[in-house]
Amino acid sequence: MATVGGLALRNTGLRGDALAHAQRLLASWQTLADLSFSDLLLLAPVQGEEGRRFVVFGQVRPTTGQTLYPADMVGMVVDEVERPLMSHAWRQGEVLIGGGTVLGTKERARVQCIPVRHRGSMIALVTRESSTESGRRHGELERNYLATFDRFATMVAEGSFPFGRDEVPYGDTPRVGDGAIVLDGELNIVFASPNAVSSLHRMGIHAYTKGLQLSELGFEQGAIDTAIRARLPVDEELEPGDTSFTLRAIPLLEADKPVGAIVLLRDVTDLRSRDRMLLSKDATIREIHHRVKNNLQTIAALLRLQGRRLKSGEAQEAIDDSERRIRSIAIVHETLSRDTRDVVSFDDVIRPLVRVVEETVSTPDVRLVFDVEGDAGDLSGDVATPLAVVLNELMQNAVDHAFPRDGEGSAKGHVQVRLAREERELVVDVVDDGVGLPAGFTLEDGSGLGLSIVQALVKGELGGSIVLRDENGTRAHVRVPLAPVAPVDL
Ligand SMILES: Nc1ncnc2c1ncn2[C@@H]1O[C@H](COP(=O)(O)OP(=O)(O)OP(=O)(O)O)[C@@H](O)[C@H]1O
Ligand SMILES: [Mg+2]
Repeated sequence: MATVGGLALRNTGLRGDALAHAQRLLASWQTLADLSFSDLLLLAPVQGEEGRRFVVFGQVRPTTGQTLYPADMVGMVVDEVERPLMSHAWRQGEVLIGGGTVLGTKERARVQCIPVRHRGSMIALVTRESSTESGRRHGELERNYLATFDRFATMVAEGSFPFGRDEVPYGDTPRVGDGAIVLDGELNIVFASPNAVSSLHRMGIHAYTKGLQLSELGFEQGAIDTAIRARLPVDEELEPGDTSFTLRAIPLLEADKPVGAIVLLRDVTDLRSRDRMLLSKDATIREIHHRVKNNLQTIAALLRLQGRRLKSGEAQEAIDDSERRIRSIAIVHETLSRDTRDVVSFDDVIRPLVRVVEETVSTPDVRLVFDVEGDAGDLSGDVATPLAVVLNELMQNAVDHAFPRDGEGSAKGHVQVRLAREERELVVDVVDDGVGLPAGFTLEDGSGLGLSIVQALVKGELGGSIVLRDENGTRAHVRVPLAPVAPVDL
């Protein structure tokens, strides 16, 4: 409830169960405002004043008509001079209808005061506030809605509305304006609003006949039967044909006996098909990543075929390097094609990446051990892809340069990849225990294509930094700033 309402309540005697009852009324009274085409106010008497002053602690406007109260009324105190009818209703404990003024103005209004009972005692008043100008003759819809509202008013006064159960609000609950069907005590149709008739049409029910049950028209009315039996509202989603509807069946009670029901119907076919489209858009994005990965693998395979035909060792090496770079990008797309959130858990990428590099160590005499420490966490595709290429180059350099083969062509060594996530940064180290960098090495001048690519990606695409230094071998230290991650709505 609004905190203002909470403040307003402090002056009243509403506590505990009675307060919970009032709160349930606030959660479910939109239907009543809509059926009465009127503003409703909920007021509680100021404690110790015997119904001479009341505090407004709830307000709802009709979605089916104009409001008399464009301003927020919660917190306003109303006394018996301004609204004698309210004090009468409180003292007599009965529904009273009469004249009054629109609160806070001199404008005339028609007022209905309904005592709110909870377990036999009066705890508050609902006022229905309508304009005196609506003197035009009521059509069938107005007559039926107003008659239904009167049923609810009686239920409020008897204490059977709101129902003794908390409403679980969900977004697609139908409102009166979406379509309403009024049923009598035998569940025969008394009235169906034009929107409800259109909904029935879309469900394939073309003839609607008063006096028949909905089930006799082919309508699945299980929810309505349950609502009557349980004397509680029942919500249901129907999917006749390729349409979707939400339905709410509310029993109408008199002295706790069901005397009818109102059924609200909302066509949510468009909403549901949009939901489905969004789902399939997600699936499409994943499918695209899958295809990109397949295409990259095809390109890598073509390069390999091409490389095998080359005579020049240098050319062959260049083709092999390109193939390896392409495969490292393919790994990221493969991972993206499996994730529904368009992020990559880098843990899933790093191991296949290591494998790509390991495979380039072809001779069994060269024994290099790779290991990975830490975790980079979830990364978006725009970070994961360049990072995968960077790591691939750095690991490959360790294989190519850190461990020169001895006279017998054998070598051994250790390459470690360390990943750590700091508050706003990703820190990546590739450390080997090899021979270290050549004397006088600087990143700026001493680089081949590999480190040029690494620098372009780290500084350009990722906006980060890289340092290479000797530390009983070579240590490449990369820092990449991370955008703050928006919380993911699931
Ligand atoms: N881990 C390392 N240990 C020793 N030397 C290294 C290491 N990493 C890089 N270097 C040195 O830096 C040089 C530049 O590396 P870079 O990756 O740019 O080119 P490259 O590996 O020679 O060729 P490529 O274009 O195939 O990568 C290497 O030739 C090597 O001398
Ligand atoms: Mg290299």
